[in-house]
Amino acid sequence: MKVSIIGGGGLVGSSAGFALQCGGVVREIALLDVNQDLAAGQALDLLHGGPSTADQIIRSGGYEQIPDSDVVCITAGLRRKPDESRLDLINRNTDLFLSILGDVAKAGVKESATVLVVSNPVDILTYVAADRLGLPKSRVLGLGTQLDTIRFRSFIARQVGAAPTQVAALILGEHGDSMVPIWSSATVGGLPLDKFPGWTHTTANDVFTRTKGSGAEVIAKKGGAGFAVGIAIRDVIESIALDSKRLLPVSTVQDGLYDIRDVALSVPTVVGRNGAADRLQIDLWPKEVQSLRKSGLVLRQTLETVLKRIGRA
Ligand code: 2OP
Repeated sequence: MKVSIIGGGGLVGSSAGFALQCGGVVREIALLDVNQDLAAGQALDLLHGGPSTADQIIRSGGYEQIPDSDVVCITAGLRRKPDESRLDLINRNTDLFLSILGDVAKAGVKESATVLVVSNPVDILTYVAADRLGLPKSRVLGLGTQLDTIRFRSFIARQVGAAPTQVAALILGEHGDSMVPIWSSATVGGLPLDKFPGWTHTTANDVFTRTKGSGAEVIAKKGGAGFAVGIAIRDVIESIALDSKRLLPVSTVQDGLYDIRDVALSVPTVVGRNGAADRLQIDLWPKEVQSLRKSGLVLRQTLETVLKRIGRA
């Protein structure tokens, strides 16, 4: 399976390339970037590691890489300033994103390809991509709250001293300020988190606050996320490549789950070879459903402003 990463020269795109190389599942990784030398440098650096990781084709290039790509991952975009919210970033990034979508459409995406949007604000841009590319909505995914979910799990694990891979906990809704922690189904090694030794209401608040602020914290400390967002991207792309049908909190245009419509946000989504194979309306506490709907409203307000400015397809 071939993956093209637009913005592959940057921190997020090259980290995704490295995560996919270490995963060894995809067959080909192409890095595209407006800074072609940077993309070529990242590809060369990855190539050098090939003999000790996996037998893959690794290259950089232009939009000629798109027509035979099975996944087109769009990470290009300006990064938030530490005190800037993702939604504030929208105007600066929308125009850039629209030109990328135009180039992708001009190059031609194959019917069976999936587009994975990472550029922020990811939920707004996922909706715009689904609206503009004319692909089935199930083939346009946004990274959504998959990154927030693994951050959330990492902090829970550290708090209770558990193995991170044994923590199951979800963040749903917006990849942004209105994201929703799902405590109702959180478990550690299959045991309910809220009954786990040492877990308290204060702990829960601290962990969620740290999770929600993680994007800004990483930006302030090192300029932006790289390793974890690369891993989150790999989680989604490898579920597509292997048709694993993993249940992942990725962003898609909603059409009624939890009574949320016509906005892109993250709900539990079955991710397979054809993109979003299904979305599950899992049981949530009433206040979690309420917060999820509120997240949809927050996003809808911004989306209407954006669509007023750029128009619909
Ligand atoms: C983050 O939360 C890049 O939006 C991403 O770090």
